[in-house]
Amino acid sequence: MDYLRWGLLPLLVPLIASFFLFYIKNSTKPSQSECSLFPHDHYWISSKRIVTSDGTISGAVEIQGGNIISVVEEGDWQGNIRRGQVIDYGEAVVMPGLIDVHAHLDDPGRAEWEGFPSGTRAAAAGGITTLIDMPLNSFPSTVSVEAFKLKIEAAEQRIYIDVGFWGGLVPENAFNASALESILEAGVLGLKSFMCPSGINDFPMTNASHIKEGLSILAKYKRPLLVHAEIQQELEGYLELKDGADDARSYSTYLKTRPASWEEAAIRELLTVTKDTRTGGHAEGAHLHIVHLSDARSSLDLIKEAKSGGDSVTVETCPHYLAFSAEEIQDGDTRFKCAPPIRDAANRAKLWEALMDGHIDMLSSDHSPTVPELKLLDDGNFLKAWGGISSLQFVLPVTWSYGRKYGITLQQLASWWSEKPAILAGLDLKGAIAIGNHADIVVWKPEEELDINDKLPIHLKHPSISAYLGSRLSGKVLATFVRGNLVYKEGRHAPAACGVPILAR
Ligand SMILES: *[C@@H]1O[C@H](CO)[C@@H](O)[C@H](O)[C@H]1NC(C)=O
Ligand SMILES: *[C@@H]1O[C@H](CO)[C@@H](O)[C@H](O)[C@H]1NC(C)=O
Ligand SMILES: [Zn+2]
Repeated sequence: MDYLRWGLLPLLVPLIASFFLFYIKNSTKPSQSECSLFPHDHYWISSKRIVTSDGTISGAVEIQGGNIISVVEEGDWQGNIRRGQVIDYGEAVVMPGLIDVHAHLDDPGRAEWEGFPSGTRAAAAGGITTLIDMPLNSFPSTVSVEAFKLKIEAAEQRIYIDVGFWGGLVPENAFNASALESILEAGVLGLKSFMCPSGINDFPMTNASHIKEGLSILAKYKRPLLVHAEIQQELEGYLELKDGADDARSYSTYLKTRPASWEEAAIRELLTVTKDTRTGGHAEGAHLHIVHLSDARSSLDLIKEAKSGGDSVTVETCPHYLAFSAEEIQDGDTRFKCAPPIRDAANRAKLWEALMDGHIDMLSSDHSPTVPELKLLDDGNFLKAWGGISSLQFVLPVTWSYGRKYGITLQQLASWWSEKPAILAGLDLKGAIAIGNHADIVVWKPEEELDINDKLPIHLKHPSISAYLGSRLSGKVLATFVRGNLVYKEGRHAPAACGVPILAR
């Protein structure tokens, strides 16, 4: 008898331990009332302007268990079964939540620059329901499985919206198939690389051979490679330039140090390897995505050519290239420094044209904040200041405000900010208001104006470095839902961080 009793002990210990762990894990999970400012499992959102992939309708969206379970037009809805709670948004626009495929949240390692909690709260305030975090500016860079595990740990229970991750393609892992496979197996949604120095020491640049290797591995997983396309070229005439010189405060000096020819050279080289992504090619199934295009001239022509040749290529640009022009940037105002740089007004008009014509596929924030000290706002030295625009909470009103003169539609906004980004990142259940999808929704008033100043409740970190501070925009976000949780409502956030880390399978 004794023998039997003690013999069971080794079995009981792990059983009790695992029960205990299960209990702890579940008891620390926030309740629905902490995750949502409207804690109901089953409810309707109604409005006169609901943007679906089939057009904008007046009607209602039914949500249950975090998913969209029906979308009905006004007439059908009123006369029909109308169970559960209803939030009526009247004339406000109900659109799929924005998906930002390009954001640097700098966590772990440089959380004082942004961090998961503040970055995802800012995103929620701006109507972004999913963002994909870049593999650099955090420390360590996400270039190995070990680093990726640290990233996921840092995100757990600290994100207010859903967050996916890009891994890094760097010389160290590019020729090592097992290294790349293991990070892809661990769940990164794709890889990112640079063709020029990234500004971060543990994220060195790649050349065309690295990119070719990367694409051949990505092909098996059908995931994309995102590339920062600029290659350093010899500069003419202004090589004497010294960091301390007076003209380092002048924006035109900075602009000359990164001419459009850098983008063009990079894209020309990239397109020698994207041929592999064609049907029957060596890397069929892989996809190449060019991030933050600024040059709307030769670079764009090259991309059009590659697309018509059957290369699997897409390109994004960012709101700051569509909103600002070099002519308007004041000397010393380093808030506007980013790479590639913001170019002239004529180039900006061409970017809009390309976006309207579908040659630019989508938009992203390239939110890349830092601490104000590194922006050197007092000194105003464009050559030494940290490059990066801090903007993610304003991308919706910025795109809308500057796009109105080009006649952009709600349907186009949803395509550039939700539908196309979802396809790029492989998010099958996101990107549209459609039955079966996650209930990821933004509600906003396009007509309502807002002044971007310190008093806005949606500046969460380092407002002084925002390039939009001082501007008046049109388009106010009223509410943001992530998987059915109302995570943001007119200046207030749900108390708990209930976003989900998205891992590719
Ligand atoms: C390739 O990567 C694996 C896994 O990260 C590592 O163990 C191995 O040492 C690397 N091989 C080379 C040749 O660097
Ligand atoms: C890229 O760099 C690697 C070394 O990391 C080198 O072996 C290769 O030849 C280079 N390829 C090109 C096209 O320069
Ligand atoms: Zn970036």
